Amino acid sequence: MSSSRRKFLQSAAAVSSAALLSSENLFASTQKVSQAAKTAPIVISTWDFGRFANADAWKVLEKGGRALDAVEAGVQVAEADELNQSVGYGGLPDRDGNVTLDACIMDEFYNCGSVMALEHIKHPISVARMVMEKTPHVILVGDGALQFALANGFKKENLLTESSEKAWKEWLKTAKYEPIQNIENKSYNKDGGKMPGGIDNHDTIGMVALDANNNLGGACTTSGMAFKMRGRVGDSPVIGAGLYVDNEIGAATATGVGEEVIRIVGSHLIVELMRQGMSPEAACKEGVLRIIKRNPEKSKGIQVGFLALNKKGEYGAYALQKGFTFSVKSGSEEKVYSAKSHY
Ligand code: GLY
Repeated sequence: MSSSRRKFLQSAAAVSSAALLSSENLFASTQKVSQAAKTAPIVISTWDFGRFANADAWKVLEKGGRALDAVEAGVQVAEADELNQSVGYGGLPDRDGNVTLDACIMDEFYNCGSVMALEHIKHPISVARMVMEKTPHVILVGDGALQFALANGFKKENLLTESSEKAWKEWLKTAKYEPIQNIENKSYNKDGGKMPGGIDNHDTIGMVALDANNNLGGACTTSGMAFKMRGRVGDSPVIGAGLYVDNEIGAATATGVGEEVIRIVGSHLIVELMRQGMSPEAACKEGVLRIIKRNPEKSKGIQVGFLALNKKGEYGAYALQKGFTFSVKSGSEEKVYSAKSHY
């Protein structure tokens, strides 16, 4: 086990006892969302590995901390995890071998910050937060984002791990660009360990939380599509696409093929549908149906998953394909769910 994996397993265990990682009930029965946990605080995040991130977010929330602080601390866990090849350190590089990271963050006051195609910085989410808090802007990209990060004390690091470099060199043999669908439990097994059998893709972590003061916050961070074209940016750092937070209504985040999420401004759409009275799950389903309507044939071969939380602490998710999981942590539950899907 790697030291970073060990470290966050230990930290997760310290927060909420062995139940977090060893519970038989960790993988709850499928198709069961939008119930329980109607009181704040609560944190939800994409994928089963989100449970490790939720554990660190929960440390903030259980002390009455702000949702914004919780989501930043939470997604940092995934960013630092070298075994997670789709977020932060250890992320799979672009087709030229550069690890380029995208992230955004949003608070309860419509403040938001984003970095796109940022290299050499392990925690792009914290740079995004600094863009939000220390500049008059919302987005910094590429070299400008790096320059800003270095000027503000972030350390320049090599983010390309041996195993991601090996995967890239293997990919170079055919250099075939083909998004791979996430299939059930392929990326992480129940203990958080890597499953064999191929390269993961699109396992962005999106996290939204409702704190004890009934305020929402959200964060989304990814290394994007594996072996993408140099300069490609997906939905994750695009406010309204990969993430949206409206403190009156709710918050939503997305994972999967970012181009499809951007085309329908997915997360903003879902928040607006919740404003019209839809439950989080119904709103996420409607987002998925929009993607299908635009291109039914294409939608059969790609994955997109949406995850949403409303002001009442109700949550829900929906995906194009089977296999999208999400993690929930509140005072009353700690579970990983399989989202319903269209196909
Ligand atoms: N959803 C992540 C990406 O497409 O980059």
